[in-house]
Amino acid sequence: MIDLIAKYNREIDSFSIQTSEDLLNFRNKYLSKKGLLSSLFNDFKNVTNDKQLIGKQLNELKKKITERYEFFKCQLSESEHEFHFDLTLPPVQYSVGSRHPVSIVRKEIIQVFSRLGFTVYEGPEIEDDWHVFSGLNFPPEHPARDMQDTFFIEKDPDILLRTHTSPVQVRAMETEKLPIRMVFPGRVFRNESISARAHCIFHQIEGLYIDKNVSFADLKQTLIFFVREFFGDQTNIRFRPSFFPFTEPSAELDVSCTICNGSGCNVCKYTGYLEILGCGMVDPNVLDSSSIDSKIYTGFAFGMGIERIAMLKYQINDLRLYFENDIRFLSRFKSAL
Ligand code: DAH
Repeated sequence: MIDLIAKYNREIDSFSIQTSEDLLNFRNKYLSKKGLLSSLFNDFKNVTNDKQLIGKQLNELKKKITERYEFFKCQLSESEHEFHFDLTLPPVQYSVGSRHPVSIVRKEIIQVFSRLGFTVYEGPEIEDDWHVFSGLNFPPEHPARDMQDTFFIEKDPDILLRTHTSPVQVRAMETEKLPIRMVFPGRVFRNESISARAHCIFHQIEGLYIDKNVSFADLKQTLIFFVREFFGDQTNIRFRPSFFPFTEPSAELDVSCTICNGSGCNVCKYTGYLEILGCGMVDPNVLDSSSIDSKIYTGFAFGMGIERIAMLKYQINDLRLYFENDIRFLSRFKSAL
């Protein structure tokens, strides 16, 4: 019996299979009810000498055969796989995803300001009244505090979705060391009905620079640098006086129309200019209410809508497209960023 076991061991070592028929033969020969293994186990019942040794060898043989069988099975399914793989077929095209235009523009804007030493700081989307309104010098009766303009989560004390990124200015002034030279990108919410020109969710990027001797000339130079870097050297710029509760004086910045280069078209409504942002010198009340001494420090701030800049860059005139996530729209944007 010991000799037989040794013989089968050798046979199994040299056994190889090519087809599923070979596999079946292997199973029938060794593993089936009438196979060699079960006849060995039958004979084993009559063994009297060296029963322990032979029993051990028999169990090892059984283990080997079953392992071999599993191995052959895997081998066969792999080779069948290969067999079905048609190398003459054209390759499957993997489509590479693209970044959302808002992400591309957000990053490009940040890159321009980072060249001037601005760092990125972010604040929460759910805010309190102080950071969104009171700390920014909004009077109590200001219309933005109305339910019609703002999504409130709780009343008294007011918890709301921020309507602009300006509250992050207040947070930076509270926590960061001076001088502050930062940009604050983020998502903002307004209670507007959705149309091509308005949406209840959009993105803004805010800038803040506070130091000793910061002047309106610094504000102008910083924004001129941004516009020329972003829209090109030839772009003309126009500052118009404006009003915001948190800046004094305040201005709005227009750039020469990216479509008609200023000669007049229906995008710029034949004015030759498009408004891109609001800005101004930080109101001394805002500095003082964040415990920054407005007699020593001055600053400027600005804020722009990212979708608006993207619309000018890509000439897209329906805001809704940015939020529908239609693959046909999104796949138009390719970026190295
Ligand atoms: N927060 C303003 C808005 O949402 C934009 C803005 C205007 C931001 C002037 C500023 C600024 O920082 O100085 O309309």
